[in-house]
Amino acid sequence: MRRIAVMNQKGGVGKTTTSVNLAAGLARAGQKVLLIDLDPQGHASIHLGVEAYGQVPTIYQVFTGRKKLTEVQQLACENLWLAPANLDLAAAELELVDAQNREVILRDAILACEDQGAFDYIVMDCPPSLTVLTINALTAATEVFIPLQPHFFALQGLSKLFETTALVKRRLNRQLKVAGIVLCLYETGTRLAADITDDLTRFLEESDPQSPWAQARIFSSRIRRNIKLAEAPSFGQSIFDYAPKCTGAEDYLGLANEVLTTASQATRPHAA
Ligand SMILES: Nc1ncnc2c1ncn2[C@@H]1O[C@H](COP(=O)(O)OP(=O)(O)OP(=O)(O)O)[C@@H](O)[C@H]1O
Ligand SMILES: [Mg+2]
Repeated sequence: MRRIAVMNQKGGVGKTTTSVNLAAGLARAGQKVLLIDLDPQGHASIHLGVEAYGQVPTIYQVFTGRKKLTEVQQLACENLWLAPANLDLAAAELELVDAQNREVILRDAILACEDQGAFDYIVMDCPPSLTVLTINALTAATEVFIPLQPHFFALQGLSKLFETTALVKRRLNRQLKVAGIVLCLYETGTRLAADITDDLTRFLEESDPQSPWAQARIFSSRIRRNIKLAEAPSFGQSIFDYAPKCTGAEDYLGLANEVLTTASQATRPHAA
């Protein structure tokens, strides 16, 4: 089972759009996928048409030990399950401040139902911060995907993000690696996008071979700016259901295929 944390502490770079449409693309390819919404904004849940109000169980209850992951996940469409989130999750960050082992709650929740679950992929949509929820995703993950919007400030903050993955790798999850960077909101043919991509390639090539990002690559599927991708969430649909012929669907299908063809990563999360 591959477990992908989609992470960048920068806001609005395409984390949720990538999490939802990558998960949906993998599901369409016949993979069993669980998408875990780890953002109190609940955008991934809303994107898949799930508004987690009232009695709907959410990932918050997993973090507070009240429910198992299998009790909160719900089928969103064929082969794709969702563990939804809502604003309650913001409280978890405070409630967990004094909790022991607060960084490994999600990993343990995944381990606890791994035998019954039989997912091929778990995709985790992280919030735009490096708080305990993101640390949980990194601890539970086998690999990290970083959506990045190629503009002038794109590389700013990347070192902090990489340092965090290195810290989690050292302390909590030895198998963690940054698998790749997904270029989102890509403006084809612009000088800036090409320059930033070159800078990024150089940065990765010059990185320490022991670092968790030493093997990271820039996925060759570039996610072009496409209005249909911005419209799909308000219809509660992935891009494949909303506008299967648009360039957004084409790009995310390309990304899903790239992910499927990269060598399968480690199989079981384990305590460091
Ligand atoms: N390729 C794209 N083309 C057009 N619009 C896009 C594209 N990717 C994302 N968007 C839009 O840009 C906005 C930000 O995207 P998204 O919500 O995926 O970012 P995020 O990193 O998850 O944000 P946050 O940090 O708030 O969680 C959304 O309105 C989304 O619909
Ligand atoms: Mg988001």
